[in-house]
Amino acid sequence: MKKILLLASMLFAVISLSACSHTDNDPFVPDTPEQSGNDDSNDNEPGEPTDPTPGGNGKYLVLFTSRSGNTEQVADEIRKQLDCDILEVEPETPYENNYNAMLERAREELDAIRQGNYPNIRTTVDNFDDYEMIFVGYPIWYGSMATPMQSFLHTHASKLAGKRITLFATSGSSGISTSVSEARNLCLESEFIDRTLLLTSSSLSQMERRVAEWLEEIGVGLEDSEKPDVTSLKMNIVVGDRTISATMKDNAAVRDLLSRLPMEVTLNDYNNTTEKIFYPDPELELDGVTRGCAPVPGDITIYAPWGNVAIFCKSWSHSNDLIKIGHIDGEGIQVLNVSGNIHVKLEKE
Ligand SMILES: Cc1cc2nc3c(=O)[nH]c(=O)nc-3n(C[C@H](O)[C@H](O)[C@H](O)COP(=O)(O)O)c2cc1C
Repeated sequence: MKKILLLASMLFAVISLSACSHTDNDPFVPDTPEQSGNDDSNDNEPGEPTDPTPGGNGKYLVLFTSRSGNTEQVADEIRKQLDCDILEVEPETPYENNYNAMLERAREELDAIRQGNYPNIRTTVDNFDDYEMIFVGYPIWYGSMATPMQSFLHTHASKLAGKRITLFATSGSSGISTSVSEARNLCLESEFIDRTLLLTSSSLSQMERRVAEWLEEIGVGLEDSEKPDVTSLKMNIVVGDRTISATMKDNAAVRDLLSRLPMEVTLNDYNNTTEKIFYPDPELELDGVTRGCAPVPGDITIYAPWGNVAIFCKSWSHSNDLIKIGHIDGEGIQVLNVSGNIHVKLEKE
């Protein structure tokens, strides 16, 4: 479900002098092929209720759909700042590896929706009873809300009646307003928060600050006492006289890894410096961790079948066996993006 569309996004950034210079009606002219493929499907059966990944704060749920990872990053940032539950909405049939075929399918699905035919998705939620607010995030496709999320809102409209919904989206440069109307029409009985968040390719890098400001504007957030201890989720990788930092996820595998630090390991070069890998002994605890990842440079993952940690220097296609456990901050991955094996020390920040 994740593809890298960075070049497409960069093209939009170049075309748009500012996010405001484009409107929802601008035509989307794709001209960039996909970089990586996705040939995996999710583990749950279509229609089977899917449990959100729980956070410490069960008041909020972040729902998102994302093909190339941008909206997922924003969703994850919201989850991190609110320490709340999160769930990905996935199409029943993964999108095509072939970029043009995928674009054509997106167009067909949008046309079908206009005729009242919603494409099948595999994500179902039993009820939203526990949530005070639901964040709904999606990419903009041809000015509209990406089709999996339209299907989700369509099939869950009655369960979302009376619920407060807040929308966020990512796009190359197009606006969010058409998709806001689509969401309101799909969930006529929900209460929509007026203030939405749109991050375009040129503002995605300001995500952390923009999400924080937006959450403050709409009046949600954690009491100081509820905030997760973010410093405990940082890991340093010391390479010779250089130290790069990584922000780790809050899950059982990371807690297990952090509890073993400091640790010295040799990162073995794998697949022509696509990955740097090592084998923790014993293997890291994987209970309850979310599987499935389309790695991008800097992602720290576990390849479940072999139990090795793999730090990605290059993007790779989605695999349900990959578990993302963290990401190297900034451009730090460049320190590891050299051929050959590298001896490093892992330590807590
Ligand atoms: C089928 C398709 C249609 C798109 N249409 C638009 C568009 O109309 N306007 C725009 O600014 N970006 C458009 N984009 C770019 C995406 O909105 C943008 O890259 C977004 O951040 C992708 O989110 P994701 O990484 O979560 O999938 C389109 C991308 C795809 C794949």
